Amino acid sequence: MPLSSPANLICFAHRGASGYEPENTLRSFKRALELGATWIECDIRVVEDELVVFHDRTLGRLTGASGTLANLDLSTLRTLRVNGREPIPLLSEVVELLHNKARLQLELKASGTGERLGRYLTSLLEKGWDTDSFLVSSFDHDELAACKRIAPSIPVGVLLYGYPINTPELARALGAYSVHLNLETVTPKRVNTLHQAGLKVFVYTVNDSADIEAMRAVGVDGVFSDFPDRVLLTNPPKAS
Ligand code: G3P
Ligand code: MG
Repeated sequence: MPLSSPANLICFAHRGASGYEPENTLRSFKRALELGATWIECDIRVVEDELVVFHDRTLGRLTGASGTLANLDLSTLRTLRVNGREPIPLLSEVVELLHNKARLQLELKASGTGERLGRYLTSLLEKGWDTDSFLVSSFDHDELAACKRIAPSIPVGVLLYGYPINTPELARALGAYSVHLNLETVTPKRVNTLHQAGLKVFVYTVNDSADIEAMRAVGVDGVFSDFPDRVLLTNPPKAS
């Protein structure tokens, strides 16, 4: 019997099971469900006032088209294919797919997404969804604050690229549930400081098995991975 059990990591399927399927598509989200994911991360932008799921500002890398997503109209958006195969989903289609199957970690990518997402999530709460079905994050903390103003009961996570010295205060000011750290910036001292401040610590993007084990050892609460099975299959079995 080990003296302390290894940490059970929450796994956020990053852009779905994007190590296996075209990222941020319904196919990728279905694959994540098949692999046992209970949390799915996706990236939120706006086209013609509609929330859509797409990572990049520009279209080239994912669809081969030129220009930016924000300048599209919805009918053109529907003709594009991610990796030549899969349509770009509306957020409402992703919500419908995942209802009662997995929770959603929504990352605000663009200006104006915070307020719109806040209104949309409020409408879902009015239809009976639970607040803990969602976690909203962003590198753009103004967008995060805008979402929190409109939908104060929805948990938010402060997404960071580096590690500002005032991170716990920043998280407190935003009323955050969690801090989302870049793998490069994780240290035991920072994890401990954030835990002491009552914050959950989630780390992106952790695909390598050695890194998954390192995150488990340092005691973070969860990781984002393109290969959710690599995290889920190495979690310790639940006590019966
Ligand atoms: O939310 C974690 C991670 O998704 C942040 O970076 O570029 O993959 O959206 P990115
Ligand atoms: Mg993201």
